[in-house]
Amino acid sequence: MPESPLEERFIKVEPLGKVLANRDGESLLDILKSAMISIPSGCGGRLKCGKCRVIVEWSSYPLSSPTDDEKALLGDLIHSGHRLACALNVEGSAVIRIPSEWQNSGVTILTGALALRKTPAKPGVKSFPLKLSESSGSADEMERISNAIGKACRASHFVADSFSVKKLSDILRSGETRLCAALRQERELVGIYAGGDCRIYGAAFDIGTTTVVGCLVDLEDGDEKAVASRLNPQIRYGDDVISRISYCKRHKEGTLKLSRFIIECLNEMLAEMAASAGTETERIVDAVVVGNTVMHHLLLGFDTWSLSLAPYRPIITEAQDLKARDIGLKVSSSAYVHLLPLKAAFVGSDTIACTIAASIHRKKSHCLLLDIGTNGEIVLGNASSTYCCSTAAGPAFEGGHIRHGIKAMPGAIDRVSVDPITWEAKVSTIGNLPAIGICGSGVISAASALIKAGIVTAGGSFIDSRGDEKLRAGRDGTEFLLVPASRSGTGHDIVMTHRDIAEVQMAKAAIHAGAMVLWEKAGRPRIRRIYLAGAGGNAIEPCDAEAIGLIPDIGSPAVVPVGNAAARGAYLALVNSSIRKEATRVARKMQYVELSGLPLFQEMFFSCLPFNAGDGSEDYR
Ligand code: FES
Repeated sequence: MPESPLEERFIKVEPLGKVLANRDGESLLDILKSAMISIPSGCGGRLKCGKCRVIVEWSSYPLSSPTDDEKALLGDLIHSGHRLACALNVEGSAVIRIPSEWQNSGVTILTGALALRKTPAKPGVKSFPLKLSESSGSADEMERISNAIGKACRASHFVADSFSVKKLSDILRSGETRLCAALRQERELVGIYAGGDCRIYGAAFDIGTTTVVGCLVDLEDGDEKAVASRLNPQIRYGDDVISRISYCKRHKEGTLKLSRFIIECLNEMLAEMAASAGTETERIVDAVVVGNTVMHHLLLGFDTWSLSLAPYRPIITEAQDLKARDIGLKVSSSAYVHLLPLKAAFVGSDTIACTIAASIHRKKSHCLLLDIGTNGEIVLGNASSTYCCSTAAGPAFEGGHIRHGIKAMPGAIDRVSVDPITWEAKVSTIGNLPAIGICGSGVISAASALIKAGIVTAGGSFIDSRGDEKLRAGRDGTEFLLVPASRSGTGHDIVMTHRDIAEVQMAKAAIHAGAMVLWEKAGRPRIRRIYLAGAGGNAIEPCDAEAIGLIPDIGSPAVVPVGNAAARGAYLALVNSSIRKEATRVARKMQYVELSGLPLFQEMFFSCLPFNAGDGSEDYR
């Protein structure tokens, strides 16, 4: 028995060496979460995903026996001390170990955007150098500033909130006569600085369910000065939006807590970007944020429950300009944050931002945009009309609900090929590390490789094993060995199971069918270009996407991975304020198609399930 580091009941977490107080009635997962120790918890603690594994190395009292559900989720791992943290209430004290595969969970986050729209810098906030003259003749100091501003720019009248006035009074007290004023729309003072340095900055954020990406931009020329990214800290409360909505519903302070987490995350990123650009957050005078509707609502502390119940209505869809301080953002105390408009409960401002970045609403020919994530958001249209929908593709394309699925992190398998003769699998991993699991692009690549090698049929079944041990019976039905335990980074075999293949089928059929519904609504136009957006979309090889039937065969379009188009859209709206109005027009004009309960969607979904769904979709041309 190890020496007890505390007299009270404790949980020691290795290899972090952290000692936490054990609390009555709280699951181990909740205790870890409260201590900001993040382990995967895909189902948000509902004993459904099997991801929250820890190894119990010692406990002062015998642990409660695992339930049948826990046993089923853990399989053989239960014999090596693994338990599910969400199912475990430790009595007394314990020493637990986080499995090695979760220890390096620096998730690979896509921050860039490729082949997308550019715009000249026309920011909504500009800076002006001021030279204060003697105060004689001015009724008060504000009049003196007003005169200086009138000389520096066209503004004959400006407003300032009490935060700016207070800052101004501090500067005046110092005797400084050279100032820099940041004016929003040449009307409102949103930043005031002593001295001749007139550099001001803006920040753009894309808040994804899994990751948050931000950039810091010099507002004078639109140059990107710094980029930051993080895992969304809300991930401890569920991998997908439904788990987070459900957490908020079950916990009285849930919404407040998740809201606070994301604000803290944005503030950390702001501080990091400002430091890396050699400036301070007080010089950040404008911000734009996009995200899906649940992320938007949680950012503002809105209740999200209505988003999960018919008629699935957001609290508000209009674009908003809020004082950044009102939501807790630590930038210039008078700065605003602009939130692009939402379209529907599951089509958020990130989709509007993608549409803007890919310029779909300005093109003559029809284009299709597939934003591949837990919800597949789809936009189809051109300059005359645009349609959008969201399909509950499920988390398979982000590695969720896959036996050895993990997020895109070092050691994740991202590409697979299988020799059609020997059935030998070759894998590549992120960072060239020993494989610890399969990320979304790896899942698609593995399914594609198994189909191409003839090991998986068009219907999604494995063929006969012909006596080859790589194709064998497992706890989820037949499974194919991708990486043997001797070569993996976990010491366990990494496999693709029959159930994994079924998850891929469902996800790709949902996206394919959603796209086909929009194509029907648009009058079956010829599609010239398909943009694959989102972290998942960019990492997927177009040939793998075609092999599994993810991409509809409608007019032999060019398939273009475009990276993080939502972040690009946020950037565009930051550096050119007219794009904010454009986004509002796009959102108003875009026609939302609700797929749930739509017979056409059901029909197409089933016809798209086979892996040769390109053939199935012929029926709809
Ligand atoms: S099984 Fe524990 S979080 Fe999903």
